[in-house]
Amino acid sequence: MSGAETWTVLDLLRWTTAHFGRQGIDSPRLDAECLLAHALATDRLRLYLEFDKPVEESERARFRELVRRRGAERIPVAHLTGRKEFWSLPLRVTRDVLTPRPDTETLVQAALGNLSADGAAGTRILDVGTGSGAIALALLSERPKLQAVATDVCAAALAVAEENAGELGLLGRIDLRRGPLFEPVAGERFDLVVSNPPYLAAGEAGDLAAELAHEPGLALFAGPAGTELLEALVAGASPHLVPEGSLLLEVAPAQASVVAGWMRAAGFENIRVHDDLGRRPRVVSGRLARRGGDA
Ligand SMILES: C[S@@+](CC[C@H](N)C(=O)[O-])C[C@H]1O[C@@H](n2cnc3c(N)ncnc32)[C@H](O)[C@@H]1O
Repeated sequence: MSGAETWTVLDLLRWTTAHFGRQGIDSPRLDAECLLAHALATDRLRLYLEFDKPVEESERARFRELVRRRGAERIPVAHLTGRKEFWSLPLRVTRDVLTPRPDTETLVQAALGNLSADGAAGTRILDVGTGSGAIALALLSERPKLQAVATDVCAAALAVAEENAGELGLLGRIDLRRGPLFEPVAGERFDLVVSNPPYLAAGEAGDLAAELAHEPGLALFAGPAGTELLEALVAGASPHLVPEGSLLLEVAPAQASVVAGWMRAAGFENIRVHDDLGRRPRVVSGRLARRGGDA
């Protein structure tokens, strides 16, 4: 890709796709397109309209460096571009937040099924461990009257969520608060509580894909078992839900049945396990009985 010869957009995409393929990158063509679009300060769609356009050496130099960091250092594309699309929202991401995953769109989809289509005024949701704000912002973008409280223990993550809310024009409908689990919402009840908490076991660190090594440990690891925060969320949710309010949790596939059991034991009804696009159990939801939770 170096030297004085002419390289077009298509030449670069083909070369880089093959290169990433040899390096064992999961989505070589997509990654090549995202990085080239970033290096050329354009978007992926425009690349398709400009396949034959020659790329200048200065732009190629910028692209070469991105390709090197992606391939050799395994830095996720979102960290190289500072952006990740989630639920069609262009979110800003940094090393302080988990890069939102397509799996988490299963949680958004399931949560929308629990919110009336017109989003009755006064409906409030709580997103525990909001990170980039992905889940709360996706729900707010779909239900114009909805209000959200979104919490995180990490101040730097909340700053990213605030920036995303601002860029999407949703700052007026989201209240960002710092603190663990339900501590920032003492005495408050919500129509819906959602969370994609850390759910990996500390011992799993060595088995992770190289890309996950670049994600914040605080977003990934819960404790020795991996289920510690899921268990605490199920145990603590009832006093923060209105009667017939719903709790939805993202889980690792192997955790779904145990979390469903905890929800049953905690008095939730209508418990469902929702599969992700790969048909793996990914979200557990339940509705609080009519009498509501203990205060
Ligand atoms: C798996 S990430 C999810 C981020 C985002 N909700 C998403 O789905 O992309 C978990 C988030 O929970 C936060 N977190 C970790 N422990 C927490 C706790 N005890 N209470 C609240 N948030 C916590 C982390 O800082 C991180 O932002």
